[in-house]
Amino acid sequence: MCGIVGYIGSKNTTEILMDGLKELEYRGYDSTGIALLDNDKIEVYKALGKLKNLEQKISDANVGENHFLGIGHTRWATHGKPTELNAHPHLGEYSYVVHNGIIENYKEIKDKLIQDGHKFISQTDTEVIVHLFENYYNNSNDTKEAFQKTIADLKGAYSILLISKVQPDSIFFFKHGSPLIVAKGKEEKEVLFSSTDAPLIGLADDVVYLEDGMGGIASPAGIEFFSDEITWSTLPQSKQYAQKDGFRFFMEKEIYEQHDVITDSMLGRLQDDQIHFDEFDAKIIEGIDEIKICACGTSYHAALTASYLFERLSKIRCSVEIASEFRYKEPLMSKKTLFVVISQSGETADTLEALKMAKKAGLKSIVVCNVDNSSMTRLGDVTVLTRAGIEKGVASTKAFSTQTVVLWMMALYFAKFKNAISQDKLNSEIFALREVPKALIVCDKMHEKTRRLSKRYLHGHGFFFIGRDVFFPLALEGALKLKEISYLHAEGYPAGEMKHGPIALADPELFTIALMPQNLHYDKIKSNVEELSARDSTICSISPLDFELSDDFIKTNKTDHYMLEFFEMLVALQLLSMEISVRLGNDVDMPRNLAKSVTVE
Ligand code: F6R
Repeated sequence: MCGIVGYIGSKNTTEILMDGLKELEYRGYDSTGIALLDNDKIEVYKALGKLKNLEQKISDANVGENHFLGIGHTRWATHGKPTELNAHPHLGEYSYVVHNGIIENYKEIKDKLIQDGHKFISQTDTEVIVHLFENYYNNSNDTKEAFQKTIADLKGAYSILLISKVQPDSIFFFKHGSPLIVAKGKEEKEVLFSSTDAPLIGLADDVVYLEDGMGGIASPAGIEFFSDEITWSTLPQSKQYAQKDGFRFFMEKEIYEQHDVITDSMLGRLQDDQIHFDEFDAKIIEGIDEIKICACGTSYHAALTASYLFERLSKIRCSVEIASEFRYKEPLMSKKTLFVVISQSGETADTLEALKMAKKAGLKSIVVCNVDNSSMTRLGDVTVLTRAGIEKGVASTKAFSTQTVVLWMMALYFAKFKNAISQDKLNSEIFALREVPKALIVCDKMHEKTRRLSKRYLHGHGFFFIGRDVFFPLALEGALKLKEISYLHAEGYPAGEMKHGPIALADPELFTIALMPQNLHYDKIKSNVEELSARDSTICSISPLDFELSDDFIKTNKTDHYMLEFFEMLVALQLLSMEISVRLGNDVDMPRNLAKSVTVE
């Protein structure tokens, strides 16, 4: 949710900022902008929409190479519409700022500054930062004091980079709530900033992942931190360039590579007839009588899936909460609860805050996450990485399959420790786990089928995705994928619940996507689909078994385990939503109004 970059050094500043923004574009693409400083002259370029529009502007303007300092931003709009005026960097009279996050008390600050004669030109919360800074500077002539006083006045979540003509060799920076990394460049006197690792790889070796409340002032002379508790880390240098490798979209590539990355997720964790985690031992559940999982979006669907597995396999009570709801419900927290958060990015503000609350209440925590060194992995007691590799498509695909497999393994690991599972049953589960990569292989026939179906499933008044048991969260996930990239209305529903209301919507214009696994409650779901068919809903069943009442059919392979059916159906749902989106001419990788990493609440 917004990405920021900054650079001080003798290389081509524009190029470094633009390359960095390219890596961060997935975090928001409503507008982009950069500010370049050359002695006491600041040049600013902004463009609405994606980065390529800014690239064009910069190329048209023939921007030179002789700037030694700059800041950049890619925006996901929170306050103020996506317009060029609301694009960052924001100007006061002589300073510019880029910001990721939300200033919650911006209104009262703005009203006061307006009374003091400041003129605002945007509708953003961010603009108050730069005016506040200048207000304090005008009174004291002291930039450091002005910046620190500015920060002290701000409430909310923010990471900030600020530059000013009154101290033209410096970048002022601060982190509170939203991520920010500061790095020493490979060359002397070089300093870089970024919201994530990716833009820094290849340019820097030593970085500080700033903690909340950390900030400072960087210049060619060095980095002055406001506090002493600084830990330098070494940046991993193997840049996994996320390229499309011949696929049309990152989403397509990421669907296709699931069978590969899932092997990494299991590597070292699946041993002969045992499950093993290096990250923790089973003692973590000693004295624990409940697992509570908190997450958002697709990760929430993985959490719901896991809740069935924890209860069924480990015989541990498991509850699941949407992180944004959990935060404000004044939850009762018991130290006998193991708190698990699931997140692809590790930066989702709501999930991060829920984790902070659990930690404060003294709960043991496990972070299931894809991005190492993210805010959540640094906060949790234990991190279990999902190892999906960089996920660029805004619609999450391989993050979900890897999360689910890791959680399934955790359920089995706890089951063994608690003697809740026989060795025979464990062996058969491990056997099924080993088959997951195969279940995730995209077969041409299935892809072609979803392509053909996409012609038909475009019109109508909506979609119901239905399933039972773990196929209910899978139905939720199928519906979410379709909504995100096709902008069609879709709902995921427990199949048995349709008769309690939603079936009233059934008619030929209602599309039902029915998940009908052979190995789990087949007869039950069949009856539910029959009820919908009797009311003329158009039905597409996804199943290994023929079902005569279906209008359309996506055939999956016969297997012995419902989770293998789960993963194969997941691929079918991902492909179907992608093909519908393609047919509608939408931007598959960067759907409207969304961002990859949601760092605001
Ligand atoms: C869906 C999607 C979002 C994320 C959600 C949580 O395709 O991408 O719903 O799943 O924003 O993000 P993470 O997992 O990064 O916490």
